[in-house]
Amino acid sequence: MAILNIVKEGDPALRKTCRPVEEITPRTLRLLDDMIQTMRKADGCGLAAPQVGVLRRIAVVEVEDGEVFEFINPEIIEREGQQNEMEGCLSLPEQWGITDRPMRVTVRAMNRLGEIYTVSGEGLKARAFCHEIDHLDGILFKDKAIHMLTPEEIEEVTG
Ligand code: NI
Repeated sequence: MAILNIVKEGDPALRKTCRPVEEITPRTLRLLDDMIQTMRKADGCGLAAPQVGVLRRIAVVEVEDGEVFEFINPEIIEREGQQNEMEGCLSLPEQWGITDRPMRVTVRAMNRLGEIYTVSGEGLKARAFCHEIDHLDGILFKDKAIHMLTPEEIEEVTG
């Protein structure tokens, strides 16, 4: 496994629409493993393939330690409620914002075995699912932020 380089805001990969995965190959599996390791090393709770320069519809999420969701060609099929909470992104270090997201979502995706599954999440998990799937369409959380924190506000939050 390898730690991959996470691209930062300004890199064109973050603004591209990613292509679906048509076939799961050993490269796909290796990418998933590397993305999980990279997400953990960076202390993030999600990572999307374009963030490591791969323009494919693949993302990983781990909100609770050890509970990893691998999303291949994910789609949000249900949204419910609303939440306005703080969000950040490994590609936008030092930036934080309050986003407008559904409180609960259901995602349909393929796992590494090529099986279609659905998973629902609420709260932080729902935010992470939405955030990572947005990355696959070139959307960053700041695009959806209803308020980006000022340096003074960030100072207050991080102490
Ligand atoms: Ni992100």
